[in-house]
Amino acid sequence: MVRRNEIFGITIVASICLLLIGFSQKDPTNYQRSHRFQQLLELEGSFRYKNYTVPIPSMNNVISLQKNQIYRELSEYEFPEGYNLEDFTLSTGGKPIRTIIITTWRSGSTFLGDILNSVPGNYYHYEPLLEYEIVRIRGYPYAERALRTLKNLLHCDYKKLRSYLRYGRSHVYLFTHNTRLWDQCEQFPSYCWNPNFLSQFCKLFPFQSMKSVRLSLDLAENLLEDSSLNVKVILLIRDPRGTLQSRKHRDWCPGNPDCDQPLNLCSDMVSDYLAAGKLKKKYSDRFRALRYEDLSLNPYEIVQELFSFLGLHFHNSVKQFLNSHTRVNIGGVSSTFRDSKSAPFHWKTDLNYTEIQAIEEVCEDAMKLWGYVRSKNATDVKEFNSLTKYDIA
Ligand SMILES: *[C@@H]1O[C@H](CO)[C@@H](O)[C@H](O)[C@H]1NC(C)=O
Ligand SMILES: *[C@@H]1O[C@H](CO)[C@@H](O)[C@H](O)[C@H]1NC(C)=O
Ligand SMILES: *[C@@H]1O[C@H](CO)[C@@H](O)[C@H](O)[C@H]1NC(C)=O
Repeated sequence: MVRRNEIFGITIVASICLLLIGFSQKDPTNYQRSHRFQQLLELEGSFRYKNYTVPIPSMNNVISLQKNQIYRELSEYEFPEGYNLEDFTLSTGGKPIRTIIITTWRSGSTFLGDILNSVPGNYYHYEPLLEYEIVRIRGYPYAERALRTLKNLLHCDYKKLRSYLRYGRSHVYLFTHNTRLWDQCEQFPSYCWNPNFLSQFCKLFPFQSMKSVRLSLDLAENLLEDSSLNVKVILLIRDPRGTLQSRKHRDWCPGNPDCDQPLNLCSDMVSDYLAAGKLKKKYSDRFRALRYEDLSLNPYEIVQELFSFLGLHFHNSVKQFLNSHTRVNIGGVSSTFRDSKSAPFHWKTDLNYTEIQAIEEVCEDAMKLWGYVRSKNATDVKEFNSLTKYDIA
């Protein structure tokens, strides 16, 4: 009996010792293992960065992966009765839904452009005329080449776009807003600026959106006329006081007369108004004007209306985008995460009354046409309703 107890006791003591040894070794072993793992990760990271040990998929593979991804992302998209994805993609001989936003610098077009890009299956031709720098394109000498660029892009034909692509390589924000393309550019930089890749890639997307701050509206008529494009045009307008206040904070604007001169902005607004009247009559089902202030005050209603005009489904991802981008202020100056109801009206407090009066002086006609009310005096301006009705004659 005693013996058995002794053996039992020894066994217990031995087990405890073994356990203790185990515990004391557990830490260093784990440490060594995780350290080795860390080194492996770093090694792998640097391999991936400097040279590709993992073989890059071929261009065709990337294209077909994207094709599948679009298919998946659009699984809940409601196409019009009797239509499906293939009816809208150039790669299958379909006709994309093409939308162009025509506007000017700091008029809320980043916001509207991103709303359109929140539709799954959208390909975003962001500011295709960036290479012209801070210039308004009203006619000769830029118009012809600029319009050719836009048409080629809308046809997904990148082969003739050499200077566009050359500019983009050194100014990548030409592509970064096109989120679905940029995702691939980050993974496969060697294909990113390849015209053959871009043409094939672009043709997979059923929705093609574009925005430009440089083109005057009467030139955009050339795009509406082109029946092969079947494009819809949105003219986005903003109160010149808001536009100019916002431009003051941009370092690329001052010194460029098309940008920093109120007179230029407002005479462009007058000529866009006249062009809008003409286009509304001629292309009533393919042209719309929209004020940034109206969009911001009533985003859900306006966007739904706009989407039904464009023939786009008000998809859940668009609702989510609006939910996260119209209610709170987060992010920096170019952020579109903001309280959309106050964003358009910061000029009332940010400009002093001398500045406001100077703008109202030269912008009287433009403001009358587009339904923007003149302020009475320095106290009135802080509170008054600066919006009234407008009508495109
Ligand atoms: C990657 O780079 C390392 C060192 O720079 C080199 O030794 C190795 O052969 C390269 N691997 C490939 C697949 O190019
Ligand atoms: C208003 O602002 C302008 C430009 O920032 C400045 O030159 C001017 O002195 C200001 N006027 C008043 C009355 O504060
Ligand atoms: C400013 O304009 C408002 C609205 O017209 C008016 O009620 C107010 O008396 C004016 N204030 C001054 C100081 O002129």
